[in-house]
Amino acid sequence: MGNALVVANPNPSESSTEMQETKARPVPRITIQCFCEQDAMAEVLQVVSEDRRLMKTHITIQMGGIGAAIAFYESSPTPNLIILESAKSRSELLFELDTLAESCDAGTKVIIIGHFNDVLLYRELLERGVSEYIVTPVDPIQVLESISNLFNDPDANPVGQVFAFLGAKGGVGSSTICHNVGWSISETVSTDVVIADFDLPFGTLGLDFNQDPLRGIADALFAPERLDEVLLDRLLAKCSKHLSILASPGTLEREYDLGDEACEKVLTTVRHNIPYAVVDLPHVWTKWSKSMLLQADEIVITAAPDLANLRNAKNLIELIKKFRKNDGPPIFVLNQVGMQKRPEISAADFTAAIEIEPKEIIQFDPENFGMAANNGQMIEETNSRAKSVQQFRDLALSLTHRDAPEEEKSRNSLLGPLLSRLGKKHHK
Ligand SMILES: Nc1ncnc2c1ncn2[C@@H]1O[C@H](COP(=O)(O)OP(=O)(O)OP(=O)(O)O)[C@@H](O)[C@H]1O
Ligand SMILES: [Mg+2]
Repeated sequence: MGNALVVANPNPSESSTEMQETKARPVPRITIQCFCEQDAMAEVLQVVSEDRRLMKTHITIQMGGIGAAIAFYESSPTPNLIILESAKSRSELLFELDTLAESCDAGTKVIIIGHFNDVLLYRELLERGVSEYIVTPVDPIQVLESISNLFNDPDANPVGQVFAFLGAKGGVGSSTICHNVGWSISETVSTDVVIADFDLPFGTLGLDFNQDPLRGIADALFAPERLDEVLLDRLLAKCSKHLSILASPGTLEREYDLGDEACEKVLTTVRHNIPYAVVDLPHVWTKWSKSMLLQADEIVITAAPDLANLRNAKNLIELIKKFRKNDGPPIFVLNQVGMQKRPEISAADFTAAIEIEPKEIIQFDPENFGMAANNGQMIEETNSRAKSVQQFRDLALSLTHRDAPEEEKSRNSLLGPLLSRLGKKHHK
């Protein structure tokens, strides 16, 4: 797909005149981190980072090459794309890359800028899942085109993952969990997230983030043919560095009979532009809501501990499993547990009936949840010591697959295929 050996431009200065003719297209809101060995490369990447086509990305440039990257990712999540410069010999470069692969999350793409026009090295890099090997001297436009090809390839998977949240009954806290988890992803994974509120008349997304955007999801849903990356940009309300919301109007001046094709178009457009789309579904069962639920990459079902919730959660989970045989089961969250004097069905009984253990059991905590809702804040912003804070973080890590044990992580990662083979070789 995006794999190609980009051979050195014999005269890099010539290509600057070709700037306008480049095939590079605007790149989605991804995070890119570069690790250079030499100042000259950092300068080239600096020019790249200032290009209009990367305007929406978060791009950083550091020195220290792959060694610095290894140290950095021991404690930080890997971004959508890592660009590494290495002037090292083939064996040294491969050794360093294998070490880096151990902390590389699934879905992270890697471009290497090397100093040797070495086909053998190129092949070995491709086998390791490296997306591209560019040989110095490079000019900014080459790097731009490589990035653009990787993230704008219509045949490649769109950049975004979709996580859908649905309550087993109305009022069980599905939206609250959806918004807190979406926020937590943007804070802990440092990657761009959009939360989209599909509860048009009653949704609380704008209220929860203390935003009163003039335009939002309704404009997109009622003019899907006009929706493109430019309109999407106008409809998003930015809440923090990595978080934007597509808010619902929360008004009753019109009826909202949504079409499944319009919903699909909104999600596809978001998906092509933003790494994580967190979808807040209302407690309704229509053609569009069912289709949005079943097409999500991950599903979170929230229930409160009573009988109606149990029945509905069981029905939902059975349906999800039936329609998604090749996916893992949905994530199940039991919420508002431990309300004083209320008889409750236990987590064990839920597990026995629906055959999925709750991923989190969130206590009924009216003080913190009430305060956050009334202040238009997330729970962590209101009280970072609230018990649910860690639970939202855990859900954020599970959904983005940042919680996998080391071994599994490297198996899933782009650099995985070779690593597992290397392992086999070494353990013979
Ligand atoms: N664990 C909790 N402890 C206390 N209050 C909670 C808890 N979880 C949610 N709430 C409160 O419950 C109310 C309903 O929450 P929310 O709107 O998120 O539910 P929902 O399932 O999305 O409802 P709807 O069916 O209206 O979409 C809110 O006031 C919220 O603050
Ligand atoms: Mg809701």
